Amino acid sequence: MRELKILAVVVFFSLLTYYLVEPFAHHEMHKKVDAEGNEIVINHRDFVYDGKADVEEAERAGNKELATKKKAFWSDVKTIAGLKGNATAGEAGFAMCMGCHMDGAANMGGVIPPSLEHAGAIYDKNYLIALIKDPAMAGNVDHKYADTMTHPMGSVSSMFADNQSIADVVAYLQEKKAGEVTPKEAFNEACVRCHAMRYDKVTQLGDTPKFKHEKDALAHKIKVIDEQDAVKKYMGKLPPDLSMIIRARGEHFMETFIENPQGQLAGTSMPRVGLNAEGYEKVKAYLTAIGDPSKVKREALGPWVIGFFVIFTILAFLWKKEKWRGHH
Ligand code: HEC
Ligand code: HEC
Repeated sequence: MRELKILAVVVFFSLLTYYLVEPFAHHEMHKKVDAEGNEIVINHRDFVYDGKADVEEAERAGNKELATKKKAFWSDVKTIAGLKGNATAGEAGFAMCMGCHMDGAANMGGVIPPSLEHAGAIYDKNYLIALIKDPAMAGNVDHKYADTMTHPMGSVSSMFADNQSIADVVAYLQEKKAGEVTPKEAFNEACVRCHAMRYDKVTQLGDTPKFKHEKDALAHKIKVIDEQDAVKKYMGKLPPDLSMIIRARGEHFMETFIENPQGQLAGTSMPRVGLNAEGYEKVKAYLTAIGDPSKVKREALGPWVIGFFVIFTILAFLWKKEKWRGHH
């Protein structure tokens, strides 16, 4: 019986370390603080986009005017989200989106407008509404466009000036542009206009075709470099290749970062992408499949290893009991 007690104690402390002490230490060592040294707690909010973080940021920075503006903006978004959208009426509106978002679209002010084929599936509804009202505010990168630069999708707000037309086009996206989406499609639509994925031969121009002739391959390389130069000019720096990011960054970082990049990297030019939970899971699945392909196997092995140790412990215990029988 004594052995069992020891085992229980060991198991207890292992679990305690794993679930409480380690995350606590991690949290303590990676504290985020604001300008006055007050701790900022970044909670993952299940991909809810209601502007709460944006308003708080403006308040923390002491910019009351901006906080009020953002509050009003997100309150309008909520109003529009409450309207009943008509997908049929939204189809004509969607044609205007396709003026920029068509297949094979060229770079526009810094990036290639992404395909909207699964926009209704991977983006949050409130976020889409916000994006059509004001792309810079939606992405929480309005600080970037304050002076001279205009957002390359900025003109969209004048095309959808009344609330109902926004509700209609979003209803159209949610009904007609949803459907099954693969992890790779989600990544292509949400991230590739800025980020390459070298391990999967993906650049800011998408999948790299196979070329028969070296000359064609080189010509393609030059196109990629031109595209990257444009993205770099737009973003201020070339967004990093994401091939290994899933190993380099923890789950919590990734979730909170994708929800609101400003929360982790204040002042960054990466916009909030507006993914919903499903969209994020798909993107994560792709990042994992390319960056850490053995993870699934590793995780499947875990229960077997633990099972082995449990059985081994029981056998060892029985064996010892047998050996020591009558020694008391
Ligand atoms: C004037 C051209 C233009 C029009 C019109 C336009 N877009 Fe865009 N859109 C862009 C560009 C450029 C980007 C990339 C912006 C960036 O990444 O900074 C973009 C990005 C997006 C994104 C990705 C946003 C994100 O944060 O991930 C979505 C979704 C989108 N547009 C939807 C729409 C919808 C829906 C409409 C129509 C209601 C529309 N767009 C109309 C040019 C346009
Ligand atoms: C409009 C361009 C743009 C889009 C779209 C975009 N990013 Fe980024 N991303 C950036 C830029 C720029 C940086 C560099 C940020 C910095 O250092 O300030 C970055 C950085 C990152 C980082 C690195 C953070 C770090 O700790 O180094 C991750 C992770 C990331 N992006 C993930 C994504 C994912 C996943 C998507 C798609 C869901 C995505 N990004 C879409 C522009 C973009």
